[in-house]
Amino acid sequence: MTPMSPSHDGLVSRALAAFEATPAALQGLAREFTDQMSRGLAGRGGSLKMLRTFTRQPTGRESGRVVVVDWGGTKGRAAVVALSGDGAARVLNEDVFTFTDAQKRGTAAAVFDVVAAAIGRVVDAHPAAEYPLGFVYSFPARLEAIDRAIALALTKGWRVMDLEGQDVAALLSAALRRRGLARVTVAAVANDTVATLLLQTYQARGADPEARPADVGLILGTGTNQAADLGPAGIRNLESGNFDGVAAIETRYDAALDRELTDPEPGAQRLEKMASGRYLGELLRRALVDSGAGGRAFRGLAGSAFATPFAVDSVQLSRIAADHTPGLDGVDAVLRELRATSTQEERAAVRDLSAAIVRRAARLVGAALLGTLRFIDPALAEGRTIAVDGSLWGGYPGFESLVRDTFVELVGREAAERIEIAFVKDSTGTGAAVIAAAASERSQACSSG
Ligand code: GLC
Repeated sequence: MTPMSPSHDGLVSRALAAFEATPAALQGLAREFTDQMSRGLAGRGGSLKMLRTFTRQPTGRESGRVVVVDWGGTKGRAAVVALSGDGAARVLNEDVFTFTDAQKRGTAAAVFDVVAAAIGRVVDAHPAAEYPLGFVYSFPARLEAIDRAIALALTKGWRVMDLEGQDVAALLSAALRRRGLARVTVAAVANDTVATLLLQTYQARGADPEARPADVGLILGTGTNQAADLGPAGIRNLESGNFDGVAAIETRYDAALDRELTDPEPGAQRLEKMASGRYLGELLRRALVDSGAGGRAFRGLAGSAFATPFAVDSVQLSRIAADHTPGLDGVDAVLRELRATSTQEERAAVRDLSAAIVRRAARLVGAALLGTLRFIDPALAEGRTIAVDGSLWGGYPGFESLVRDTFVELVGREAAERIEIAFVKDSTGTGAAVIAAAASERSQACSSG
């Protein structure tokens, strides 16, 4: 450090302060979230879609062999899953598939051909068998039945041609027929949040039939969203990433990001753009570039990947947080990957800013979860379970503690302790198997009864 170099507080102090959400602002967000849930359910507008799911809580005794397929991002997964009827599940055969940038902007038929090909690879081992299929469609869809899901505008940077308004179950069935896989029948379409919620209940009730079902399913990965069991209103997919009551918390970096993106369009997915893995690295990039602009700091960013939108990802934020070396060697390694050089003060500033952005994300997610829990149970009087999955939650060191601290801060320790958080890793595929098994048992019961 030369005597001339500014302190790291000075380098990013304005951005650090901007990313601090006050408890009052978070309380306001939670209240607005609860209100918008009511409005959405009553069909009185608002940013929470409160979509129907046509699912019920599982008994834990669902059984059989099911094909599952999971599409909601760059990487997808197909598998054959065997449910043993006691809360357990085994993956028998699995295959992953990846989409190119061109496919993300291509035709729906091309996307579904990739999905159907992966399904073909996992069922090939049993050429004669017939299977029900559970389709995890991790984008917004308006379900009209358990096996009829009309696609709404896509999220997370996707823009597939001629998909909006189409039934994704029918598109998948058509692609399966094109591949000669008519023996695989789409039995259920579900959002990933719904799959996570129901898998937690399946596992708990498989072990103890009296176990309390999960109340909320949360995904925090590339995108973020919640599903919740709302009793008489059924299990709903909130599409909470679209929540727009964030005005008291947004920074100018959030506002600019929202304004400049076309997919999703400005105004859409506001909470997701401030809290999920797809966007946190981009917020860091913007805040750093801005902190260095015109001054002496962060000169080593010139000519680096920091000039490129979305060059920084949330895995890199997790690595920055995991670096406990005195010289911040891990931060240095991340910056070098991005072709940036740095002083130690600058590395400390990057670490602090990155931590502030993720901490704010955790607090936003925590407040939104309280919004849902208070809708279900205004006094938070009963024990509640939140089932969680997703790469940011699972990959960022200490993320869960940040959310728990937010609960304590906003509702006090006693009420916060009644909230159980269950991390259910790789939940979506198995969760979809539970949903599809339940749906095909029900349809067999209907046709035979
Ligand atoms: C986006 C999608 C939503 C999904 C979430 C997590 O928010 O719109 O459907 O549940 O990402 O994958």
